[in-house]
Amino acid sequence: MSLRGEGAAASIIMVAAVARNGVIGRDGDLPWRIPSDLKHFKALTLGRTVVMGRRTWEELGKPLPRRRNLVVTSRTIEGVETVPSLPAALAAARGPVALIGGHAIYAEGMDHADEIHLTRVDGAPNGDTVFPAIDPARFRRVATVPGERGPRDEYGFQFETYVRLS
Ligand SMILES: NC(=O)c1ccc[n+]([C@@H]2O[C@H](COP(=O)([O-])OP(=O)(O)OC[C@H]3O[C@@H](n4cnc5c(N)ncnc54)[C@H](OP(=O)(O)O)[C@@H]3O)[C@@H](O)[C@H]2O)c1
Repeated sequence: MSLRGEGAAASIIMVAAVARNGVIGRDGDLPWRIPSDLKHFKALTLGRTVVMGRRTWEELGKPLPRRRNLVVTSRTIEGVETVPSLPAALAAARGPVALIGGHAIYAEGMDHADEIHLTRVDGAPNGDTVFPAIDPARFRRVATVPGERGPRDEYGFQFETYVRLS
């Protein structure tokens, strides 16, 4: 069953930065500072409806500009649209969607995403939140592109693209 919004060209992507040990978060924040990857994130998500869990929303603190922001939560939150579940978010979205974390959104998103865009962070920092395993029977890696590490990037990184097989 398709849960996508109207528009045949709608696509659902997941976007995440993941360390070698699977870590994506620590104490409600990113465990690294990689400004070059934030630029990459912006380019991938601009114009899409971004769907995130409540803790990721709290980390951002304000809506991402030039994107419709949907927060999955059981709470009522001032200043942003909220939905009670990921399927409700996908049903509410019109056009292309980006699932931007955290853990449960990514785990449930594996059933819905057409593509996964991972930034592989070349480090293994301590953390409390991890990216779920990507099932090779469901997604194939189709591209690996070295990232250009800038002077303010704490780690090196590469960009990986996975597409859905089934
Ligand atoms: N490296 C990356 O790319 C990346 C990306 C995003 C986040 N992060 C990091 O990850 C951490 C936050 O992620 P997290 O996994 O702890 O939290 P999260 O997914 O951002 O938020 C969890 C909350 O979202 C709601 N929620 C999430 N999935 C749901 C679902 N399927 N159905 C219903 N409600 C759902 C619930 O809210 P209620 O409790 O309000 O009901 C849940 O308590 C932070 O450290 C952040 O910096 C990293």
